[in-house]
Amino acid sequence: MKKTFVKDALASTQYGVEMVVAGWVKTRRDSKAGLSFIEINDGSSFANLQVIAPNTLSNYASEVPRLHPGAAIQVVGTLEKSPAAGQAVEIHAKELIVLGFCDPMQYPLDKGRISFDRLREIAHLRPRTNTFGAVMRVRNTLAMATHQFFQSRGFYYFNAPEITASDAEGAGQMFQVTTLNLDKLPIDKETGKVDYSKDFFGRKANLTVSGQLEAETYACALGSVYTFGPTFRAENSNTTRHLSEFWMIEPEIAFADLNDDADLAEDYLRALFQAVLDKNPDDLDFFDKRVEKGIHADLQRLAESAFTRISYTEAVELLKKHADKFEYKPEWGIDLQSEHERYLTEEIFHGPVTVMNYPKDIKAFYMRQNDDGKTVAAMDVLLPKVGEIIGGSQREERLDRLEARMKELGMDLDTYWWYLDLRRFGTVPHAGFGLGFERMVRFCTGMGNIRDVIPFPRAPLSAEF
Ligand code: 4AD
Ligand code: MG
Repeated sequence: MKKTFVKDALASTQYGVEMVVAGWVKTRRDSKAGLSFIEINDGSSFANLQVIAPNTLSNYASEVPRLHPGAAIQVVGTLEKSPAAGQAVEIHAKELIVLGFCDPMQYPLDKGRISFDRLREIAHLRPRTNTFGAVMRVRNTLAMATHQFFQSRGFYYFNAPEITASDAEGAGQMFQVTTLNLDKLPIDKETGKVDYSKDFFGRKANLTVSGQLEAETYACALGSVYTFGPTFRAENSNTTRHLSEFWMIEPEIAFADLNDDADLAEDYLRALFQAVLDKNPDDLDFFDKRVEKGIHADLQRLAESAFTRISYTEAVELLKKHADKFEYKPEWGIDLQSEHERYLTEEIFHGPVTVMNYPKDIKAFYMRQNDDGKTVAAMDVLLPKVGEIIGGSQREERLDRLEARMKELGMDLDTYWWYLDLRRFGTVPHAGFGLGFERMVRFCTGMGNIRDVIPFPRAPLSAEF
């Protein structure tokens, strides 16, 4: 017989029908009347399924008393309407097979509430907790909703390389990829520097910080593409919103300007909120109760809300009026800090804000230069609590302007010859953005730390598992 998911059993009304269910024991309670009430969960839903095991089972005396939280069982039984409050159905077991016992003396999850810090040390077991099961289901919803959103708009799913020789953000925060023996590096006699022609790729290579530059090449042929893959940043930021390895979604659209880009970003965010509301109401209720009060209603409101759009210059003017609130004083030309982003979204606009046209000196080389000579056509979308969720821009499509900017920044133009070719052969206005996937999962779950919304977080001094 095929196994039925707990989720489907819970939704079924086929009383009296025999089925097979399997899962991990959450709780067990024995009655004096010779019945054991065993709650199991198989990950398919937030809710558990109650199995009633009668003492007529052949292994009742020998095995059922040894079923502690974490044990894995398979049950053949009939679905029955439950007389108890809080659940519609239950399974009356005819056969119970223990797949794996779980020793309560050793099982780290059997001890009541455990801190998220401690759970990070047992990241291989934490998906069995209510919280992490719910986080994972929301994460899955956001991934599928991403594909659905872009596919429905005619975007092609594009896979950017993970290993590259270019620095997409020009910020130098890259992990180097090498097969050279670090204890015995080959040195070029003439220059006295490491001879990378001896390295695996015959040149210096690194893990990508962003798939954007490569995505641009495909957008400038296929029109609209999006990446969805891991990206790596060797920035030494020990915060609740930075990871060394995070997933990014980067759409890139040809024949588009900054306003088209912002429209797309805002539609995409609303679609993501709506998907979680549609697919994960139970998980959201849990987060609402146990993690962040009001999150369910917040998402509901955001799924329908318009975003405020302001220029960077306006944002700084507003922040300056509240200068006493900040550690880092707002001034035209500074990069907005987390405290500024939160103040704009939480205190001034009470919702998402898209900030546009940043000073060119604090933004990446590829952003389109505005006519004022001071700013570039960049945008950041800010959300309450997490701050920057999206960074994007219209790209500089004018060869002379782009080359001039790269030279000004001391970049090696030869490494980017292919990127510059896009501006030589049929150049078009184009734009795109990157959404930090884990920041989005964090926002939709209310989880406080980004390390708790990715299965195995990588951060400075932390790469266990
Ligand atoms: O603003 P960023 O650096 O933009 C880019 O990488 C562009 N190439 C995107 C593009 O235009 N195609 O990063 C984009 C987003 C940020 O807004 C943030 O949400 C997330 O990626 N992000 C991080 N998330 C987790 N950990 C980190 N260390 C992150 N750095 C950026
Ligand atoms: Mg950014």
